[in-house]
Amino acid sequence: MRAAVIYESKTGNTARAAQAIVEAFQAHGVEASASPTTQVDLQAVSEADLLVIGTWTHGLFFFGMGPAGEMNFLKMPVIDGKKTAIFCTYAKNPGTTLSKFEKIISRRGGDVIGGYAIKRTEIRDGAEELVGRLMGALDKA
Ligand SMILES: Cc1cc2nc3c(=O)[nH]c(=O)nc-3n(C[C@H](O)[C@H](O)[C@H](O)COP(=O)(O)O)c2cc1C
Repeated sequence: MRAAVIYESKTGNTARAAQAIVEAFQAHGVEASASPTTQVDLQAVSEADLLVIGTWTHGLFFFGMGPAGEMNFLKMPVIDGKKTAIFCTYAKNPGTTLSKFEKIISRRGGDVIGGYAIKRTEIRDGAEELVGRLMGALDKA
């Protein structure tokens, strides 16, 4: 199995989470690589059995939360029918970020199989939890 991670990041947390997700996949024996929305690795995406797409939470901390970088996700290459997991990083409260993000990624053609919000102070644990859940779900599929 191969996984490709695509991420949107402003201050580096989501980029770090993407890299931690790549390392967690590799620890499970899965080939993986990551690229930013602004420079998507087209070959990695086309060869991937699983996509993991992440962004950061943008909002007013108690309301109005949503996924950052919608325009960049709308410009992404076609991901029609690709099995896709989504994630977001956040500081205090991701609110409805994941459900809004799922709508964007589904509209782009991704077959969203799950999502996970990673706290920016717990990036490694969050990445390992996300990948562990995905491996469990894929084993059962
Ligand atoms: C303008 C702005 C708005 C934010 N709004 C929220 C928010 O509503 N809730 C939250 O938990 N974190 C919020 N954050 C924190 C970011 O989601 C968090 O730091 C994230 O990990 C940043 O990812 P990045 O380093 O990849 O850009 C906000 C950050 C910025 C810059």
